Formats: sequence, C-alpha cells, structure tokens
Amino acid sequence: MLKRISALVLAGLTAMSMTACGSGGGGGGGGGGGSITMGFSQVGAESGWRTANTKSVQDSAKTAGITLKFSDAQQKQENQIKAIRSYIQQKVDVIAFSPVVESGWDTVLKEAKDAKIPVILTDRAVDSKDTSLYKTFLGSDFVEEGKKAGQWLVNEYKDAKDPVNIVELQGTTGSAPANDRKSGFQEVIGADPKFKIIASQTGDFTRAKGKEVMEAFLKSNPDIDVLYAHNDDMGLGAIEAIEGAGKVPGKDIKIITVDAVKDGMQALADGKINFIVECSPLLGPQLMDLAKKVVKGEQVPPRVVTEETTFTQEQAKQVLSSRQY
Ligand code: AHR
Repeated sequence: MLKRISALVLAGLTAMSMTACGSGGGGGGGGGGGSITMGFSQVGAESGWRTANTKSVQDSAKTAGITLKFSDAQQKQENQIKAIRSYIQQKVDVIAFSPVVESGWDTVLKEAKDAKIPVILTDRAVDSKDTSLYKTFLGSDFVEEGKKAGQWLVNEYKDAKDPVNIVELQGTTGSAPANDRKSGFQEVIGADPKFKIIASQTGDFTRAKGKEVMEAFLKSNPDIDVLYAHNDDMGLGAIEAIEGAGKVPGKDIKIITVDAVKDGMQALADGKINFIVECSPLLGPQLMDLAKKVVKGEQVPPRVVTEETTFTQEQAKQVLSSRQY
C-alpha cells in the first residue's frame, strides 16, 4: 500500500517537474493555431555546461514563442524514456532531447515516429541504425574535440624523450561525449608510444566525482605528468585533489579539459589548467529554428555541427570578461 502511495506521489512530482518550465500556453497538439509546443528532456544538471545549456534552451524557447515542456532526467535514461512517452501522450508538436547514453533508444523513438511527432537530437547522439527515427542531430563533434586535446599534448611534448604518463577522467559511461572524446584523443596520441594512459575512469562529468577519482589516481600513481578530463567540472574537482596532495596543478601535472565554461576559463587564466577545448552549450537558438522547420514539414540537414575553438592560457585571459557562460 505504502509503495503504491509513494509511486503515485512520485508520478505527480514527475508530471509537475515536466511542466514547471513551460514558457506559456499548454496542451500542444499540432501547432495548428501557429503556436508550437516542444517537449524537451534534459540529461540533468551535472555540470556548468549543462546549466548553461538548459538556460539557452529555455530562453530561446521564450524568444521564439515556443511553449516548452521541460524535464530533468537526473542523468537516468529511464527518466528520459518516461518523459518522452509522456510528451507523446500529450501530443506535443516536437520532441527534443539530449540522450544521456548512446544506446537503447529505438523502441521509444519508434513510438514517437508512429505518433508522427518529429524528434530532434540535441547535444548528444544515439547509436540507432535507423536514422529515420529522428529528423536531425544538432551538437558538437566530440571526436574532433578529443583530437584537438590530443594535438595540443603531442605538440607540448614534441621534444620529450621520456614516457608521458597520462590519467584520464572520462565522462558518463556510455555517453557520446565520453566515447568520442576518448577515441579522438587516443587516435592522435596513439601514433607515439611515449604517450601512456596509465589510468582511466569515469568521473560522471561532475566536480565531486572528478575530485574523488583524481584522489584515487594520485594515491596509486606517484608519477602523473598529464590529466585529460572530459569536461571542465571534473578537471576543477581534480585540481582540488592535486592541491590537496601538495602538487601544483598546471605545472607538476599538466591539465587539458573540454567545455570552456567560466570557472574552467578562470582556472586556465590562473595557470591551473593548460589547455581547454571549447564545447558550446548555446544550442537553444538553432534548436528552435530547426523545431519550427520540422514542425512545418520542411527539410533540415541531418547533422548540424556546432562551431567551436580552443583556448590557451593567454587566450583565456583575453576573453574571460566577455564569456557568456
Ligand atoms: O554533452 C556535453 C557534455 O555534457 C559536456 O561537455 C559536459 O560538461 C556535460 O555534462
């Protein structure tokens, strides 16, 4: 009985959180009167990047006059599947989501297709073979980001003869950015056997986990030259661990991260991080444009890649004050 009551309370809370960020209007259903309702399932709130991405989506929906039904999956695929099913039931005009992991989406995507609701993937990809299950995928090229991180390292150590011991903090296991940033990096450094990844573990894209895993790395590996963290937040957590171990981040251990959020850029400008590969979270405006097009039945490109750059310590000092997120 108690279980049943808890389940009902949970269902009520989930439904509330799914509508809490709506930017006006209700219902969905066809956009016939000109207004569009989008159901958006966000990964969670694991990082500074994610917070900026959520804000970008919510602000852009308002600006574009799109009614947004927003839900936070707390990094759980089952919550995203539940949210997408609820959006299908509510007959929204378009569903957009950032899939927490790459696999396991075919069934729910087929349900959306059968209900004739177009789906847009944003930020992260799925590995579905049937690409007709979604209209387009808007986001970064994560393999390229990993390659850029690797290229900086190869250049930084071009004259080194001794082995370069690298530890890697991976993003969420099974997620597209963790898979791709790992493989892109590996592809570039793999050409030279002096680069050795001596430890690699997930830090789930969070600061707390980044710190915890780096502490363990430091205990079992006395000779770490480089940390490659798949995002700024894990890198920032790791900096605390490195300082706690009496070492100097950026000097005793060189650090490469991905994202370029404000806190990361500050640490780069302060010399605690050595290089950041940008991953832009500001996907909202492009997402709303694509949504309008797919709802009208217009053709959209199957892949829209976000434009991004990289930052050295000097470059970070120059752009820090104008950083939007
Ligand atoms: O999918 C993008 C990644 O997810 C960002 O790099 C990371 O910070 C976030 O949590």
